[in-house]
Amino acid sequence: MYAKDAIGERCAIGTTDEITVEGIGKRFGSTIALDDVHLTVPRGTVFGLLGPNGAGKTTLVRILTTLLRPDHGRAVVAGYDVVHDAAQLRSVIGLAGQYAAVDETLTGRENLKLVARLYHLPRREWGPRAEAVLERFSLTDAADRPVRTYSGGMRRRLDLGASLVGRPRVLILDEPTTGLDPRTRMELWVYVEDLVRDGVTVLLTTQYLEEAERLAARMAVLDQGKVIAEGTANELKDRLGGAVLEVAVADPKDLERARELLVGVGSGAPSIDPARNTVSVAAHQDAQVVLDAAARLLQGEVPLQDIALRRPSLDDVFLALTGNRTAVEPAAAQGPKRWGRRSS
Ligand SMILES: Nc1ncnc2c1ncn2[C@@H]1O[C@H](COP(=O)(O)OP(=O)(O)OP(=O)(O)O)[C@@H](O)[C@H]1O
Ligand SMILES: [Mg+2]
Repeated sequence: MYAKDAIGERCAIGTTDEITVEGIGKRFGSTIALDDVHLTVPRGTVFGLLGPNGAGKTTLVRILTTLLRPDHGRAVVAGYDVVHDAAQLRSVIGLAGQYAAVDETLTGRENLKLVARLYHLPRREWGPRAEAVLERFSLTDAADRPVRTYSGGMRRRLDLGASLVGRPRVLILDEPTTGLDPRTRMELWVYVEDLVRDGVTVLLTTQYLEEAERLAARMAVLDQGKVIAEGTANELKDRLGGAVLEVAVADPKDLERARELLVGVGSGAPSIDPARNTVSVAAHQDAQVVLDAAARLLQGEVPLQDIALRRPSLDDVFLALTGNRTAVEPAAAQGPKRWGRRSS
């Protein structure tokens, strides 16, 4: 049931949720892309959707933006059902998809004006809206060049800008900062934070842990179409028992031996990070764990470089939840830390 709220917008009665997903499922042939997904996103917050390649993030984004119909379940965005009210919903959401959807033959300015027109903004607003977005995304100098002459990062910025032309109430960003240089990425984060202060609700998928932690009040981890964890970054970290014991060995040849010696020390299975020469294991925040681990490694004659108990990162949480089969190729990683590759 929906009603007009104080600002004349439709909203779900009795809730402040701007996005509600109830039991959404989607199959492609024999692939189950989404399996009974439930989510809620409070109005005026950022929700992070995390997960490895193929987890179902883009599929959910496409359903929430009316580009794909779910097989079953129901989703309501900004008070509109994604299937039954698709046309109305499109007028209040902005989408920046995983792959830039700008027209190569048009200039940056023409692309933005086209989007303004598609949003049915009054003609007198097309120019000023395009101008404001060009300015915001540092594209003014390139505004009158065809997009085919833009660099990858410029296209990405233009695409993000296009998602904002219609001043959306709900903004959906699918891996928005992939391919952006660090400065532009940070500028985008600040921009998203500004939008949220103005009451916009943002759902973003990301592979960058730092991004989720910085922006998202709550997040969900999708794996093979299922939500396998949901909460704040701290809640997710608490699931690992509050701490991670990390041991750096002096000689990489000892990594496997160290892993064997650490089985049973913490509360999970130890895993190796060959890039950092470390073995880590989930543990309780208790100095005794460090003493036990050091004693075992000493007895096993494994020389150490460092041993420490630290707060888990989202990376640890993700690896513990999804295992190693899901890791992203290191070659694909750029910018801040992504889900890392480790062996266990
Ligand atoms: N149109 C389609 N036809 C067939 N299979 C599809 C289609 N779209 C998605 N899939 C499959 O559904 C699963 C989920 O894909 P999806 O694109 O949602 O993953 P993702 O989490 O966005 O991954 P990535 O991080 O790589 O972008 C994958 O197994 C994918 O191959
Ligand atoms: Mg995707």
